[in-house]
Amino acid sequence: MNAFTQWFADRAPGLDVAYKKHMTEYYAPKNFNVMYYFGSLALLVLVNQIVTGIFLTMFYTPTAAGAFDSVQYIMRDVQWGWLVRYMHVTGASMFFIVIYLHMFRGLMYGSYKKPRELVWLLGMLIFLALMAEAFMGYVLPWGNMSFWGAKVIITLFSAVPVIGEQLVHWIMGTLSVPGDPTLNRFFALHVVALPLVLLLLVVLHLGALHEVGSNNPDGVDVKHGPKGNRWNPNAPVDGIPFHPYYTLKDLVGVGVFLVVCAIIIFFEPTVGGFFIEHDNSIPANDLVTPATIKPVWYFSPFYAILRMIPSKGFGVLAMLASIVVLFLVPWLDRGKVKSVRYRGLAYKIALTLFTIVFLLLCAIGADLTQGWIMGLFGASSATAVSAELVFGRTLVVLYFAFFIFLWAYTFFGWEKTKPVPERVTTHA
Ligand code: HEM
Repeated sequence: MNAFTQWFADRAPGLDVAYKKHMTEYYAPKNFNVMYYFGSLALLVLVNQIVTGIFLTMFYTPTAAGAFDSVQYIMRDVQWGWLVRYMHVTGASMFFIVIYLHMFRGLMYGSYKKPRELVWLLGMLIFLALMAEAFMGYVLPWGNMSFWGAKVIITLFSAVPVIGEQLVHWIMGTLSVPGDPTLNRFFALHVVALPLVLLLLVVLHLGALHEVGSNNPDGVDVKHGPKGNRWNPNAPVDGIPFHPYYTLKDLVGVGVFLVVCAIIIFFEPTVGGFFIEHDNSIPANDLVTPATIKPVWYFSPFYAILRMIPSKGFGVLAMLASIVVLFLVPWLDRGKVKSVRYRGLAYKIALTLFTIVFLLLCAIGADLTQGWIMGLFGASSATAVSAELVFGRTLVVLYFAFFIFLWAYTFFGWEKTKPVPERVTTHA
């Protein structure tokens, strides 16, 4: 410890203990692969969203009359305003890309299994908070898609029995269409309340992880003793101190990630209308409904599930179920082996299929598949519409089938696993 850190340690003894516990004496398995970059990248994006968000708030006006113009003002007149806004908008989409990969890693390596169930549950709560945060942020520029998106999503609450209509008015703060009260409360929630919730949940998420230690691509625990390493006799044999080893390794991921973000921000910030929808460059207008109202790409898999069910009530239920079922994964999967490397072939196939189904649902929700299907069945034909419905509903069934399969496959002991190594391996 140098004089500087000693000064802190003498005055706030908890700080150096925490630093050791979470950094220099947090022993992470030595076999992390690229899939382990996404946790630290999620942290980086969270910080980016907060910092750029603070600067945007300095110039943004949260009123129905002023919001759209204030965003245009940021883009055209505020020094570097365009850069800060593009960093924030690109950050939102990248956040979801990173989080989806982070969750996929969990499914690959069984990171949700005992003893990390709480880490997964807290992660899922983060995911919910993140969706709320992104939805409310999307409403703030008060473009036409913001306005109609807000109306469609808030109106979904009318599916709640008995109190549905009142609930919609309560959330919207108005009687008919979203207006000033809606924008004001979304602003307050987006800028203050939800970021605080997110930060708190992330701290708990990491706290819970560090209580039990990280999983790894082999899904086997790092072994303790007998000799530890040359600095600490009690260190796990296959573990290396998080700092400096993984802090440095994570910087490689950060470098690559920042290059990708810079390419998007400087060369193609709308990403063909995916990151910023073209309809949102038109001011909100309650008399002009966009040709198709669709959410930003990262909500589209869940939106597709809603759209494919004919009744509104059941559609909302199915959409909710598609998220709730993810909370249950640690208890649905009874398999003893964690990592996909040593799991049965059927699990590998099922996980691959599930990933494809999720991507296709994303394409349907983003209205991409209509074009493909019309190409097959001819534009304007009724067959094209019903073909899309059959295709979409099959995907919805397959989405849920994955979870039922996961339970049955492991509950009835059908899984034939490969022998799991005694210690973590570093060859792959
Ligand atoms: C703001 C969002 C999030 C942040 C900043 C975040 C951050 C992190 C970090 C830094 C780690 C340790 C490094 C790593 O394993 O990659 C981690 C681990 C983990 N996270 Fe997250 N996370 C977030 C969201 C989620 C979500 C949505 C889930 C899933 C529902 C999740 C599930 C997990 C699991 C299971 C682990 C343990 C992985 C293992 O040990 O193999 N996280 N998270």
